[in-house]
Amino acid sequence: MQSFTYYSPTKVIFGKGAEKQTAQEVLAFGGSRVLLVYGGGSVVKSGLLSRIEEGLTEAGIPVKTLGGVQPNPRLSLARQGVRDALDFGADFILAVGGGSVIDTAKAVAHGAANPDTDIWAYWEGEKTLEKSLPVGVVLTISAAGSETSDSAVLTNEETGVKRGLSTPFNRPRFAVMNPELTYTLPPYQIACGVVDIMMHTLDRYFTPTQGNETTDALAEALLVTVIRNGRKAMADSHDYGAMSELMWCGSLSHNDLTGLGAVKDFVPHKLGHELSAKFDVAHGASLSAVWGAWAQYSWKTHPERFARYARQVWGVQTDDEEQAALEGIAATVDYFRSLGMPTCLSELGIGVQPETVLEAMARQATRGDTMMLGSFRPLDQAGALAVYRLANR
Ligand code: NZQ
Ligand code: ZN
Repeated sequence: MQSFTYYSPTKVIFGKGAEKQTAQEVLAFGGSRVLLVYGGGSVVKSGLLSRIEEGLTEAGIPVKTLGGVQPNPRLSLARQGVRDALDFGADFILAVGGGSVIDTAKAVAHGAANPDTDIWAYWEGEKTLEKSLPVGVVLTISAAGSETSDSAVLTNEETGVKRGLSTPFNRPRFAVMNPELTYTLPPYQIACGVVDIMMHTLDRYFTPTQGNETTDALAEALLVTVIRNGRKAMADSHDYGAMSELMWCGSLSHNDLTGLGAVKDFVPHKLGHELSAKFDVAHGASLSAVWGAWAQYSWKTHPERFARYARQVWGVQTDDEEQAALEGIAATVDYFRSLGMPTCLSELGIGVQPETVLEAMARQATRGDTMMLGSFRPLDQAGALAVYRLANR
């Protein structure tokens, strides 16, 4: 086990009716004027937005709303949010939605606390964030894990760059998690969420670090739970048990617990981000579209790791290491397919891409071949291109 610092300070309020506690949590964390961020309208339709607004108003908290956050959230709306927060004098940013809304809220919090800096400078690594406003979350989709994670992902639509920022200031103060709020999700979004939750653990599990028993066992238990409950959730989005397991796994999968003491990989995420930046495809779909190709390219580096995964997570029986590894990869890809998720580029609905597009994405992912990706089988630009080629069916 490698040395680590574990810091996961978000207060979780989980269960039916949890959103009723939102206003009191805002007050408890020092909020007195709230900018409330939401997405394209699901929370308007469900009535959640007006219930949260009423709760805040009853508690004497003035609130201004910023709606319209799109999946793969755009920098321009976050910048708008910074202006709104400053004009309104907000001292607390509340996200009501999924990863895109939460990440926008985080960006707004950073910008409002640092009005002299354009927020993109933090994502570019040109400036280091030293303060932010507090952020709270009412979660409506189990997927990105942003409700407890230290990261926020934005797309700069002017340059076509999608990039994550990791900082302790990205940890929300609280996350309200009522699984019933996810009942209205369309099957496609449930499936995207299941893939993303699995991938946050898989991108940590496939590591060169060895002998990490507790972390490995936690990761395997989480994966088995998500796979089983993903099936149930797809069959019935009103299954409280299944939606609860997915919601809690979504947070645990990306709050670092399933990778403690190990080096992270995250290559499928990096390659997926380029697909979302270029084609605006859903995050979960971008991951399932490249994972099989990544596994095919990488498994021989540490076949014993893939064999263990196959046996522990998929119940593969064979004693042969290579055979087990391949069966585990096939089982994973078949599972994605069973959820209706794409397993190659054409299934993303973008067709088979010309070589020039693959090259551009590989270049962008490795920042012009100046950065190696991942740790399991580290990729340079040529390696990234090789994986894109395998996925380009
Ligand atoms: O916009 P609305 O109308 O709310 O609809 C959303 C959106 O269309 C819909 N939705 C959410 N809750 C719903 C609902 N529809 C019906 N009923 C509900 N209860 O779902 C769609 C997707 O929403 P989005 O917030 O984009 O989903 P997700 O949580 O998957 O977030 C994806 C974004 O998070 C980033 C991704 O890259 C992507 O930009 N990620 C953020 C991470 C982080 N901050 O830690 C880590 C992840 O790896 C990921 O990169
Ligand atoms: Zn993800």
